[in-house]
Amino acid sequence: MKVLLTGGAGYIGSHTIVEMHEAGHDVVVVDNFFNSSPKSVERVEKIIGKRVPLYEADVADEAAMDRIFAAEQVDAVVHFAGYKAVGESVRKPLEYYANNIDSTLSLLRSMKKAGVKKLIFSSSATVYGTPDKCPITEDSPTGHCSNPYGWTKYMIEQILRDYCVSDSDMQVILLRYFNPVGAHKSGMIGEMPNGIPNNLMPYITQVAVGKLKELSVFGSDYPTHDGTGVRDYIHVVDLARGHVAALNYREKGAAVFNLGTGTGYSVLDMVKTFSRVNGVPVAYRITDRRPGDIATCYADPAKAKAELGWEAEHTLEDMVRDSWNWQSKNPNGYEE
Ligand code: UFG
Repeated sequence: MKVLLTGGAGYIGSHTIVEMHEAGHDVVVVDNFFNSSPKSVERVEKIIGKRVPLYEADVADEAAMDRIFAAEQVDAVVHFAGYKAVGESVRKPLEYYANNIDSTLSLLRSMKKAGVKKLIFSSSATVYGTPDKCPITEDSPTGHCSNPYGWTKYMIEQILRDYCVSDSDMQVILLRYFNPVGAHKSGMIGEMPNGIPNNLMPYITQVAVGKLKELSVFGSDYPTHDGTGVRDYIHVVDLARGHVAALNYREKGAAVFNLGTGTGYSVLDMVKTFSRVNGVPVAYRITDRRPGDIATCYADPAKAKAELGWEAEHTLEDMVRDSWNWQSKNPNGYEE
């Protein structure tokens, strides 16, 4: 298949180009480089030994997207592009709603004109809010998100379901990601957060490389095995392969899948495993809970295994080793 990746230069997008190429698909990337670098695509080209068509455009620019669809004749779209910082979304709700929702609506109009009937969407476990149970199945209640970013994912899921009802040929696959970490084993591509990282793994790697002094562990009084928050960390290469599996899914209408491993690890599990596997100390200090955080969140990934034939294969050791390989080889990300 020929697949268009919006936000394809980003962390998950760049890894997905590699996995789609290895599965025999052709990939075209659209990115405005708001939170990414064209260098990630250059690095991908070195990994796969092939040129990747790359368009610099905003997905909300309907005329530009129409031209790209006319030029490329794609079979499917994976929509990664969007603002993604939880804390920033609380401070800038209008920007988050406008950017994430407008760009999706505009993308759907362009796809409609071009007759493209398959869309894979980057959703998030955040749509489950405070989960009623763990592991979380896809039919768990959604909503009660704790921030505007999460609500944009929730609202876009609904928009895509409604759109499928209006067009019975349409196929939408909503992939609810748990916590992506790790990097391609080459160490050539990886996560490059803007400024001080919000997420745990890039914070750990930046402490380890000496860019940050110490990790704040947000709370040690949660009802978990060591009191720190538990999440379902998934290797980004496994996550990328989940999108390849979704390309082969044939059912019409909207379908939803969790992409997680099914296992939860605590903040201290992550810190200790990182130090042990990589032989690098990570200074940390216990601080107050972070507002909006939940105690425990991990997936039931059985539906993706049964219906997509996909399951995560990388271990926690793989995740911490590959995160460190990327960070230590590229202390400043894609900036030389
Ligand atoms: N944490 C720390 N210190 C830090 C950063 C994180 O202790 O400096 C802890 C958090 O309290 C939490 C765990 O590490 O217990 C993971 O936190 P992240 O910020 O890495 O991830 P979250 O689970 O909070 O959020 C992630 C994504 C969101 C997504 C959500 C879905 O960042 O985009 O998962 O559950 F919506």
